[in-house]
Amino acid sequence: MCAILWVICALGAASTVSSNSLRTADGAVASDVVADGASTFLIMADWGGQDAAPFYTPAEKKVAASMGSMGANASFALAIGDNFYYSGVADVGSARFKATFEDVFDDPSLAAPKFFKVVAGNHDHVGNVSAQLAYAAPDASRWHFPALYHAFVETAADGTTLEVVMIDTVELAGDSGDDLAGWQLPGPASRLRSEAQWAWIDATLAASTASYLIVAGHYPILSVCEHGPTTQLIDRLAPLMAAANASAYLAGHDHCAEYLEHYGFAHHGVGAAHLYDASTAHAAAVPSASLKWHYLPGDAPSTKDDASRGAFAAATWDGASLRVVHYDQDGAEIFAAPPVPPRGS
Ligand SMILES: *[C@@H]1O[C@H](CO)[C@@H](O)[C@H](O)[C@H]1NC(C)=O
Ligand SMILES: *[C@@H]1O[C@H](CO)[C@@H](O)[C@H](O)[C@H]1NC(C)=O
Ligand SMILES: *[C@@H]1O[C@H](CO)[C@@H](O)[C@H](O)[C@H]1NC(C)=O
Repeated sequence: MCAILWVICALGAASTVSSNSLRTADGAVASDVVADGASTFLIMADWGGQDAAPFYTPAEKKVAASMGSMGANASFALAIGDNFYYSGVADVGSARFKATFEDVFDDPSLAAPKFFKVVAGNHDHVGNVSAQLAYAAPDASRWHFPALYHAFVETAADGTTLEVVMIDTVELAGDSGDDLAGWQLPGPASRLRSEAQWAWIDATLAASTASYLIVAGHYPILSVCEHGPTTQLIDRLAPLMAAANASAYLAGHDHCAEYLEHYGFAHHGVGAAHLYDASTAHAAAVPSASLKWHYLPGDAPSTKDDASRGAFAAATWDGASLRVVHYDQDGAEIFAAPPVPPRGS
C-alpha cells in the first residue's frame, strides 16, 4: 500500500512530527510524544448505521466526524465488520454504500484510495458479502476489501514496518444467529473454507517479518462485554498469534471499548462506532486480571444501546513502540494503552 502511495504515506507521517501531551479521562496527562517518523491509523468496528432512514446513527455520525478531524495524520483506517446493520447489503448497487458509508465518512482527509481496510462481521454475512467485495472496484475506491481475509504491510517514514492481518471470524467460528454468546457459536458453516483460512492465517503470521504484527477480526478473542470471549478463537487463534509474537488483536462485535492483556499480546475492543452498550455480562468469563480497562461513560454508568454515544481508536507506530489510544464519539481521549515494543525485542 505504501509502496504505491509512498509519497502520500510519507507526507502523512511527516505531518505527525512534533510532541504533545494528551489528557486522559481521569485528568492525568499521558505522555504521548509523537516521534519523528511515526505513522498513525484509525480503528473502528460495528459502525454500520441502521437499516432505516437516515441509515446512520448519531454516534456513527459523530465518530465519522471525529475520525475526519484526525484523518490528516492517518494513513489508513480499519473497518472491522458489521458494516451495514442489520442484514448487510443485497448487491453492489445497494444505496447503503452511499447512505451509511460515503455520505457519513465524508471528510476529505478520509478520501485516499484504499483508505478504509475492511472485513465482514456477522451482520454482513446475513447479506451478500460478495457485493461488499465487488464494491472495492474500481481501484480508486477508498473501500479496500479485496478478499474475505487479507493482509497488508505499511511502512512508517523511519522505515518501521507494521503488518495488519484481517480475518473473517464468522467463517472461522460460525454465525451468531439470534445473538448467541461467544461460547455458544456453532463453529464454521464450511469446514473446507475455515480450514483454508486457518492455513492462510498460520502461514501469514509465521512469515511476517514486520516490527508490529496486528490481527483484526470481528469477533473478539476475549471480551467482558455483551457476547464475551469466542471459544474457537481462544482455541486456535490465540496460540498462533502467541507463537508469532503478535503485537495486538483488534476486534468489535461487542459494542463497548475495552483493553485486555493475555496470551502475551494486547486485546482492544473497538466495537462501539454506531452505539454504546456498557454491559459487562462476561466479566467473569475472561482470565483473572486480564482486563485492564473498560469504558463506562461517567455520566451514564448503565448505558445500554445508547445510539448517541460511541467510541473508536487510533494507533501510532515507530521504531520505539506501537501505541493505541481510545476516543469517545467526540474525539476526547478516554484511554491510552501501554506502549507495545517491537516484536522480538
Ligand atoms: C497532527 O498531529 C500533529 C502532531 O501531533 C498535531 O499538532 C496536529 O494537530 C494533528 N492534526 C490533526 C488534523 O489531527
Ligand atoms: C451478490 O452480489 C454480487 C455483486 O453485486 C452479485 O453478482 C450476486 O448476484 C449477488 N448474489 C446474490 C445471491 O444476490
Ligand atoms: C519472539 O520473540 C522472542 C524474544 O522476545 C524471540 O526469541 C523469538 O525468536 C520470537 N519469535 C518469532 C517467531 O518472532
